[in-house]
Amino acid sequence: RRLHHASAPAVASLSARHPPTAAQPTLDVLSWLDARVKEALVECYGPELRDAPSLVTLATKPDFGDYQCNVAMPLAKQLRSAPRAIAAELSAALRLDGVCEPPEIAGPGFLNLRLTRAFLTSELGKMLADDERCGVAPAAPAQRVVVDYSSPNIAKEMHVGHLRSTILGDTLAKLLEFLGHDVLRLNHVGDWGTQFGMLILHLRDEAPAVLAGEAQLELSDLVQLYKQSKARFDADEAFQRDARAEVVRLQAGDERSLSAWKALVEQSEAAFRQVYETLGVDPRLQTRGESFYNPMLPEVIATLREASLLQESDGAQCVFLDGYKNREGAPQPMIVQKSDGGFMYSTTDLAAVAHRVKVERAQRVLYVTDAGQAQHFQQVFEISRLAGMVPEGVSLEHVPFGLVLSEDGKKFKTRSGETVKLTALLDEALARARADVTARLQAEGREESEEFIAKVSHAVGIGAVKYADLAMNRNSNYKFSFDKMLSLSGNTAPYMLYAYARIRGIERRVAQELGGEGGVQSEEGAVKLLLLEDAELNLARHLLRVGEVVREVERDLLPSKLCEYIFELSSKFNQFYESCPVLQAESAEVQRSRLALCQVTASVLRLNLGLLGMEALEAI
Ligand code: ARG
Repeated sequence: RRLHHASAPAVASLSARHPPTAAQPTLDVLSWLDARVKEALVECYGPELRDAPSLVTLATKPDFGDYQCNVAMPLAKQLRSAPRAIAAELSAALRLDGVCEPPEIAGPGFLNLRLTRAFLTSELGKMLADDERCGVAPAAPAQRVVVDYSSPNIAKEMHVGHLRSTILGDTLAKLLEFLGHDVLRLNHVGDWGTQFGMLILHLRDEAPAVLAGEAQLELSDLVQLYKQSKARFDADEAFQRDARAEVVRLQAGDERSLSAWKALVEQSEAAFRQVYETLGVDPRLQTRGESFYNPMLPEVIATLREASLLQESDGAQCVFLDGYKNREGAPQPMIVQKSDGGFMYSTTDLAAVAHRVKVERAQRVLYVTDAGQAQHFQQVFEISRLAGMVPEGVSLEHVPFGLVLSEDGKKFKTRSGETVKLTALLDEALARARADVTARLQAEGREESEEFIAKVSHAVGIGAVKYADLAMNRNSNYKFSFDKMLSLSGNTAPYMLYAYARIRGIERRVAQELGGEGGVQSEEGAVKLLLLEDAELNLARHLLRVGEVVREVERDLLPSKLCEYIFELSSKFNQFYESCPVLQAESAEVQRSRLALCQVTASVLRLNLGLLGMEALEAI
């Protein structure tokens, strides 16, 4: 019994990196204010106003308080009253419960809302006591969410587009899981299709040992062989016929064909795994490629036929929807079965929707791919709804992203014009980070162990690649630049990692001064938070917004908002640190309170870096 007790805490901290419930969650001020304004509207002007937008936003300027409510102006006409009079009535009716100071009516009829010091202090106390979740409450209700991401193709190189999908998808999955959602990570690998017929045939001639699983190929060699097989296919009619026959054998489950296919899949996947390991992608990303849905495809066609959605065009089975046009302006159907009976990428995606919704019980499905596939997904979503495959309330969302360009704004290629290999790209990031780190250590006259250098270089190099991608609004194209992403200034991974390590350093020094206790007590009440200076209040206000930002990303799936938030956080921290001495605080009480602010800032940074797939280092 005693033994069991002794080991319990270690197990708990392993399994609950983020305990699902915050000790005592902080208030989501924005939605809380929203609800209060709605109440006031109903109280003043009747129940018809229950659904009027409350128009509460963050204040656009510090002069306007912390939040502002802009509802009076748009209501003036409807209520036949002056906006300032409406603002005054609302202001009198608002029940702010000590969260905000009495509202201030400003300009044409804004309500400026300022959080009270008492509220900020008590909320920050909750954050201090909850180092893991920083007071962020889990979402209610929790949903079953499928995130489809990474999804490279067998016998092809994984390219920078897949890198973007991998990084974005991994972060979104982490964030949703942090909020308590039940997340299924699916890698929709392109492992099926007519190309496998020609590839298997060609390999039977060129590299039979590979198909027998007796020899391994580098992915790049496999890619070469794939290109050769394609050239043969285009040039040689007999080969074409044989390749088609091979596909039929494969699809019929012929053993020899299937085992050759499996050998190919295994070799490509080994190369993908290497990239995932270097990137630190969550190992729960589950490969469920296109082939998985192959047995379900005839049923998709049957369902579409039953729903009277199918139309034959040039021998192919198509679905024509209004509003989809090709470049020439002609109607652009979605082809679901070719004239030779073969199925399409789109057919597989329709089957995948059905499977995810029915078998996996997904309530939300996210597809993280390049923006070029927007129309494909729009059509898939619309057709699956028309065919009755998607129950009411289930949300299917394409999460598009822009192109990765090279620094000159052109397509991302090596000097010789080849597509850049991801492994080479990551290796270069690591090598450059190591050079930066060793140079800096030398300049600082520090001698560190190889283990330390390797750890820091990895965190900086891989962190830089991820952060550069995540910090950009995913809808824009972005230019891949090692110099920029590894720069110590600006919104970059090295900057954020240093910011975190620096705060931890300050904490260690102050803790020592306070008698080596190792930080302030983190149970609520043990430390009295003072928030005396403006810079302290500003920092506290920003810290308190963490939950709001995470929930915003849950909705709009823009992780760049997390990066913006922590970049601003570190600047607010710097302002605080410059104007409020921590090491030289005027009293032990003030010092403890400031140390607590350092601790909460560090926790919030660590939480966000974790969601962004980065490891926060204690020293760097
Ligand atoms: N394999 C595809 C590509 O490389 C991406 C697949 C995305 N997911 C999906 N369900 N279609 O572009």
